[in-house]
Amino acid sequence: MEVLHVIGARPNFMKAAPVLRALAQKPQVSQKLVHTGQHYDAAMSGVFFQQLQMPQPDCNLEVGSGTHAQQTAAIMSAFEPVLLNHRPDLVLVYGDVNSTVAAALVSSKLGIKIGHVEAGLRSRDRSMPEEINRLLTDQISDLLFTPSADADQNLLHEGIDRSRIHLVGNVMIDTLIRLLPQTASKPQNFPSPYALVTLHRPSNVDDLPWLQQMLAILSDLGKDLAIVFPVHPRTRRRLEELGSLHSNPNIHFHDPLPYLEFLALQRHAALVITDSGGIQEETTFLGVPCLTVRENTERPITVDLGTNQLVGRNLQRLREAAKEVLRHTAPDRAGATSREAQTKTKTLPLWDGQAADRIAEIIVRASGR
Ligand code: UD1
Repeated sequence: MEVLHVIGARPNFMKAAPVLRALAQKPQVSQKLVHTGQHYDAAMSGVFFQQLQMPQPDCNLEVGSGTHAQQTAAIMSAFEPVLLNHRPDLVLVYGDVNSTVAAALVSSKLGIKIGHVEAGLRSRDRSMPEEINRLLTDQISDLLFTPSADADQNLLHEGIDRSRIHLVGNVMIDTLIRLLPQTASKPQNFPSPYALVTLHRPSNVDDLPWLQQMLAILSDLGKDLAIVFPVHPRTRRRLEELGSLHSNPNIHFHDPLPYLEFLALQRHAALVITDSGGIQEETTFLGVPCLTVRENTERPITVDLGTNQLVGRNLQRLREAAKEVLRHTAPDRAGATSREAQTKTKTLPLWDGQAADRIAEIIVRASGR
């Protein structure tokens, strides 16, 4: 059988890598990899293929940036002839980015089966583009691979038949577990101790007065410990508009980092402040305190069982939560190791490094070969 994987944006790469590896062990499966080109900078894409030891894509649709409609439409138009040409037995899509929903729509219209990896997550916030992508992709997918039991419940409530839902665990954690041994030491050339910050959601960074107020809080925290802030291209544009990139001596702005360097920074951080989805999960696994600057999360398990706190759009709360975490945190290497030992991975039983193997088994079984 032929499986065609579609990836496009940074958070897709660490999810697809273990599935590609697991399916490569199945002699009855041949694989093709399509990159939509949603992310195209070397630092947002190329370097991940190297570090995650992924095969180069068989095809790059090179769609680049645009409005949501432009980007989604460009992916659909460019992907359709690829699908018609290959006619795979299954298209695998990952996560919740525009590439995910665009590829799923094209596949479903051509009657090609779809597997969605990381199905069922819901923030219940339809102003998030990713929530729309998640809802639509799940409705038209045939195999729904979920990371945790709450995702199964979400899908059942939306009327999706139980037979389509497969609780397999967290593929992003598969990659983390495989590569964690390479992050034993703190990355060089960074101050220590430090808080690691990432912000890229339009709701945080496109609102310039709000962004400026967050920078003021970070700068203030920067008096107590270093603030290391790898900057997403969208955020960089906003910081340039504000003239803030060079005027904050307490914040160490940095270009986007490759996977291993970023994982090492998370592992050894005293605290992480973010609006990312995946980082809420990675910090949960690592036992690193995480403050999420959002009103909601599609990953409530990281709040219930992990180290994540939602601070919302509340600067006072962000400041107080950060100070509170720092009062209780040992930010050194020994701290990192003991934090990992204490993580709640036992209560997250399928975050065990083998989610992709389970996906591969289910795909082969479902194909009847
Ligand atoms: C996308 C995902 C988001 C994910 C994020 C991770 C959607 C709707 N959003 O958001 O869920 O958390 O990726 O990064 O799919 N840009 C570059 N170089 C690149 C890529 C982007 O300069 O390689 C700039 C462009 O100016 C572009 C902007 O970043 O307009 C946003 O890129 P886009 O892919 O539209 O969305 P992200 O914000 O990255």
